[in-house]
Amino acid sequence: MILKDKKIALGVTGAISAYKSLELTRLLIKQEAVVWPVMTRSAKEFITPLSLSTLARNPVSTELFELAEGSRISHIDLAQSADLVLVAPATANIIGKVANGIADDLLSTVISATTAPVLLAPSMNCRMWENPIVAENVERLKRHGYFFVGPDEGDLACGYEGRGRLSSVSDIMDAAEYALSDKDLKGEKVLVSAGPTREAIDPVRYISNASSGRMGYALAKAARRRGAEVVLISGPSSLPRPSDITFVPVVSAEEMYDACIRYYPQSTLVIMAAAVADYRPKKTYPTKMKKEATSLTLEMERTADVLKYMGNKKKDQFLVGFALETENLEENAKKKLGEKNLDLVIANSPVGLDSTLNQVTIINKDNDIEVLPPLPKDEVADRILDNVVKLKRG
Ligand code: CTP
Repeated sequence: MILKDKKIALGVTGAISAYKSLELTRLLIKQEAVVWPVMTRSAKEFITPLSLSTLARNPVSTELFELAEGSRISHIDLAQSADLVLVAPATANIIGKVANGIADDLLSTVISATTAPVLLAPSMNCRMWENPIVAENVERLKRHGYFFVGPDEGDLACGYEGRGRLSSVSDIMDAAEYALSDKDLKGEKVLVSAGPTREAIDPVRYISNASSGRMGYALAKAARRRGAEVVLISGPSSLPRPSDITFVPVVSAEEMYDACIRYYPQSTLVIMAAAVADYRPKKTYPTKMKKEATSLTLEMERTADVLKYMGNKKKDQFLVGFALETENLEENAKKKLGEKNLDLVIANSPVGLDSTLNQVTIINKDNDIEVLPPLPKDEVADRILDNVVKLKRG
């Protein structure tokens, strides 16, 4: 809950995508952030202040002097009390103004007066985004520590197709969390595996397990938010691809092994959250198997244990494994910690397999044991990474 109680000055400028700021506001409020909406005059041509203020549960401010005279909050107060200034959508105009030190309305004044992080989510025609002056302005702002999310590629409201679409609301939420987080994993190259694997019986059938991928995806996103470079190697999952990380989709245990081994040498931290199949059918039929006998026996063979291989080859990497246990949780998890040469093992029961909650026990090499209560997987991810940071710092 990084956004909980955070004061967010939400700037909305005049672009067709301004309507998406309503959904963004709804999600920020859902995360218990405090939203102070600031609309430019042209934003009001696209959505009404009433909609935005109703969702934000705060009045919308637009005029510089109206605010200064009012008893509510001055533009300087707004700039100083905000934990984050988020502009979504951000037009070429506001980007140009901020990059050139122009403060001629409430939003541009708040941005120039704030010491809080500023996150801009551009939205404009693709030709405008490609305009070298706009590109220079963006580069200049990035150099000065302004955060950007997007724009995305796709169909644009103006009829063009290209880069200029406002990022998805969920990517903007992730970027807001990124802008607000301590970067205590900066410099780390993190490899996370997630999801199940599928072992083919024939072209239309496979053996798999109930993993949703949620725990691994939460870990990958949390590591990225905390400043790490992240590679996420994922078995089949219906979850949206997290932004700003290297995403490697795989299907079988063999593909998972190959991908993990490829990224292992350059990684400094590995978290194997994938539910890799331990066995695969010895034979994969090239065509669909027809039913014949009353029963069917499939001969299975062992897959390679990725984590064990990594444990054997370990140099400076910090290795985190999961131990899914239905009995003797701590004892079995400790055994895996030793056998796979891990630095940390996360023991869990199958209850969290296809759920948004997980209940885990974190055990390190010194046998320190932390039993967490059932928590949302995002929070579990941060608690695991807190342990990693603590141990890595010694
Ligand atoms: N793992 C792996 N490669 C495999 C199987 C498991 O890298 N072929 C990793 C998992 O990602 C997890 C850890 O090893 O981090 C433990 O997985 P788990 O399924 O709990 O245990 P196994 O090692 O398979 O042992 P067992 O089936 O006997 O419980």
